[in-house]
Amino acid sequence: MKILLTGGTGYIGSHTAVQLLNAGYDVVIVDNLVNSKEDTIDKIKQITGKEVKFYKADVRDAEAMDKIFSENDIEGVIHFAGLKAVGESCEKPIEYYQNNLDSTLTLVDTMRKHNVKKIVFSSSATIYGIQESPKYVETMKRGTPSSPYGTTKVMIEQILEDVYKADPEWKISILRYFNPVGAHESGLLGEDPKGIPNNLMPYIQKVASKQLEQLTIFGNDYNTPDGTCRRDYLHVVDLANGHLKALEKLDGSENGVYIYNLGTGNPKSVLEMVNTFKSVNNIDVPFKFGPRREGDLDEFFADPTKAEKELDWKAEKTLEDMCRDSWNFAKNAMN
Ligand code: NAD
Ligand code: UD1
Repeated sequence: MKILLTGGTGYIGSHTAVQLLNAGYDVVIVDNLVNSKEDTIDKIKQITGKEVKFYKADVRDAEAMDKIFSENDIEGVIHFAGLKAVGESCEKPIEYYQNNLDSTLTLVDTMRKHNVKKIVFSSSATIYGIQESPKYVETMKRGTPSSPYGTTKVMIEQILEDVYKADPEWKISILRYFNPVGAHESGLLGEDPKGIPNNLMPYIQKVASKQLEQLTIFGNDYNTPDGTCRRDYLHVVDLANGHLKALEKLDGSENGVYIYNLGTGNPKSVLEMVNTFKSVNNIDVPFKFGPRREGDLDEFFADPTKAEKELDWKAEKTLEDMCRDSWNFAKNAMN
C-alpha cells in the first residue's frame, strides 16, 4: 500500500516513514524543506534499506500535488506538513494561517479529485485549551488555544469534520499529540531546531552540548509536586507507531472521523526531565529557576485509554529512553 506523507522529511514524519517502510508500506514524501533537510531521505533509506520517493514541493501548490497523485497510486495520506512554532505564530499569524490552512485545503481538494479519501492528520493537545481537568480526554470540547498555531489545528479539525459530513466516503483519523521528544535509536533522525530552541528537550540538548550556557526553568511555584510544570512527554518512535496503528484501524473501520490522544498518560515535571537527562547520559545540564513563561499551564496530560482500546496502541518507551536517544542524536548531529 502506498502512503503519501506531507511534511515527511520533518521530525515526526521521518520517524513515521521509517516505521511504515519497516511494516511493508511504500512511502512517497512531499516536503518544501522549509523546516527540514533533503538528506533526511538518505537517512530514512539507510535505516530501512528501502526506497522512498521524494518530491520537493509545497503542499499549497495544486499543480505539483496533482502531479504527485497522478504519478503514484496513493491509497492514503498522513498530513504532517505545517508550521509549528507556537511563539513565531503569534508574530506571524498570517503566514501560519496561510500555510497550515491553505496546504490542508489544497491537499483535501487534490485527494478528492483523485478519489483518495483516507487521511491521518497531525493535531495537537493544544486544541483543548484550558479545561477543568488537566487530564485531557477526547470527549472534551475543543477549547481556545493560546496561539494562532493552535487555532490552525482547531480549524483544520473542523475542516476535516465538515469534509466528512458533506461526503461520507471519507475515512479520517485525527491524532492529538502531547509532547513528542526523543529520536531514532540509530542517532540519524531527531529534532535539531535552528537557532535558540523554545521547547524543553532541544534546549536541554544545546545546554548539554555547551552550545548554550544554561537552561532556565520557567517557574518553580506551580501547583505540582516539585513546583515545576508537568507535561506528557512521549517518544517520537512510539508516536510514529501510533500513525501505523491509526492507518491500519482506518482500513478496518467504517467511514467516519476518529479522534485519538497520543500520549503516555503519565506526566513528568521539568525537573524530572532535567535530572533524568543528567543521570542517564552522565552529563551536566546547568540550570537556574526563572519566572513563569506566559501561557504555560501547571500541567496537562493525555487520557490515552481510547487509543489503547481502539488502536491497540500504547506508548512503551520510558523517560530514560527519551533522554538517552535525544542525546545520542544531538551528539551525532554535532559531528
Ligand atoms: P517539522 O517542522 O519537523 O515537520 C513539518 C514538515 O513540514 C517540515 O519538514 C516542513 O519543511 C514541512 N512543511 C511545512 N509547510 C509545508 C508546506 N506548505 N508544504 C510542504 N511542506 C511543508 O514538525 P514536526 O514536529 O515533525 O511536526 C509534524 C506535524 O505535527 C506538524 O503539523 C505539527 O504541527 C504537528 N505537531 C507537532 C508537535 C511537536 O511537538 N513536534 C506536537 C503536536 C503536533
Ligand atoms: C508547546 C505547545 C504545544 C506544542 C509543544 C511542542 C503551548 C501551549 N503548547 O508545549 O502546542 O505541541 O510545545 O512540543 O504552547 N520549559 C522550561 N525552559 C525552557 C523551555 C521549556 O522550563 O527553556 C518548560 C515549559 O515551561 C514547560 C515545559 O518545559 O513547562 C515544556 O515546554 P515545551 O517543550 O515548550 O512544551 P509545551 O509548552 O508543553
